[in-house]
Amino acid sequence: MELGTAQPKPASHMVWTSLCDFDELKEGEGKYVEIGGFQLAVFLNGGQVYAIDNNCPHAGGNLAGGAVQDGCAVCPWHSWAFRLDTGQLRGSPGVAVTTYPIRLLPRPDGKPTLVQANLPIF
Ligand code: FES
Repeated sequence: MELGTAQPKPASHMVWTSLCDFDELKEGEGKYVEIGGFQLAVFLNGGQVYAIDNNCPHAGGNLAGGAVQDGCAVCPWHSWAFRLDTGQLRGSPGVAVTTYPIRLLPRPDGKPTLVQANLPIF
């Protein structure tokens, strides 16, 4: 290896990863999920499920512990509000948390529907 040469980043690929059962989610509340090195805040809002990074970029607040208002996760520490659909800080484009695609996976035999996120696993 030569000094000063750029090293290629390890390849990543997206993996559908189970986060929780759908019936563990409560409308308008966050659920903290730690999986595969990710710390996520999962929300049910208007019947839709969203997953965003849990750590607030302001000072590390726990977004899963905040309220949902007008389609945003509101940080419980200083009330920064992040759109659940895009991760953007309301009123301040350019500041955002990462969002992850979600799918619901029905299961047979009366088992609860699984909530999965598409996570970039290295
Ligand atoms: S830590 Fe989230 S708003 Fe300050």
